[in-house]
Amino acid sequence: MPTDYMYTMKCSKGEGFQQGQLSRYGNIELSPAAGVLNYGQGLFEGTKAYRKEDGRLLLFRPDQNAIRMQIGAERLCMPSPSVDQFVEAVKQTALANKRWVPPPGKGSLYMRPLLMGSGQILGLGAATEYTFLIYVSPVGNYFKEGCAPLNLYVEDEFDRASRGGTGGIKSITNYAPGLKPLSRAKNRGFSDVLYLDSANKTNLEEVSSCNIFLLKGNVISSPATNGTILEGVTRKSIIEIAGDHGYQVEERVVTVEELMDADEVFCTGTAVGVASVGGITYHDKRVEYETGSHTVSQQLHSTLEAIKKGLTEDKKGWIVEID
Ligand SMILES: Cc1ncc(COP(=O)(O)O)c(C=O)c1O
Repeated sequence: MPTDYMYTMKCSKGEGFQQGQLSRYGNIELSPAAGVLNYGQGLFEGTKAYRKEDGRLLLFRPDQNAIRMQIGAERLCMPSPSVDQFVEAVKQTALANKRWVPPPGKGSLYMRPLLMGSGQILGLGAATEYTFLIYVSPVGNYFKEGCAPLNLYVEDEFDRASRGGTGGIKSITNYAPGLKPLSRAKNRGFSDVLYLDSANKTNLEEVSSCNIFLLKGNVISSPATNGTILEGVTRKSIIEIAGDHGYQVEERVVTVEELMDADEVFCTGTAVGVASVGGITYHDKRVEYETGSHTVSQQLHSTLEAIKKGLTEDKKGWIVEID
């Protein structure tokens, strides 16, 4: 949904990012020879603003998105905004679009920071100018299932990432190749695909736009991030929250075999929050998992949502309040 304002900040090669500014939301102009259009020199981020009952806005760990953008920028040979510049830009953009932030309990304002090589570059190389931009849109649930459990398909033909590649950063080039497996799975009635490691096709990686966890007994496991999996801000937060709740949390290699034998499975991400998985299909076998109000994933979901929406005390310093 188009909103009122976007934020733009530019940087020429060898210089830092200059003072950014808000402008009316609208199309941008780019040279046909821009690095982002020709060589995919671009990153994106995703974070959300929530409206509290008292009208103030809450951001969830925007510094983590800033840091992840810096790591990604280094990998793609781009300069990046400082953490302070990034967070300040997110704050200004959220406030400028305040009327678009849904009322408490009705959704959030999704904020999409972009960093791209906007300067011209014909021969393969880094662009000469960079643009940082934030636009926003009000959102409700990410999946059409709403809060209903997800139905995942284990993808073993297409890979998402490989060792030494860019799977660990939010490079724009990671996403278009996922459209084919995603649309194929959706056409077959699945919510999303779960990718396996490209080398062996035996270990779990992640879902198209979220990380994966499984529960067996009292142990929660998630594939370790080794450069092929995006280090989700939600993943990191859930690992901490699960530890606080007394669960043993393991970040390690997790096999498909273990997945097929898990008690519960859930996904985490800014867009999805904590979403429980009701069933997974691997080859011709479908397994089902526990879902519903008594589950661990629901417990973790409730704790995280309460923090994000300011319904509980923020003991971790994760919330940035703005008004
Ligand atoms: C591929 C992928 N994995 C995981 C995530 C979840 O990350 P986060 O919790 O930071 O939103 C995202 C979304 O950002 C993603 O695009």
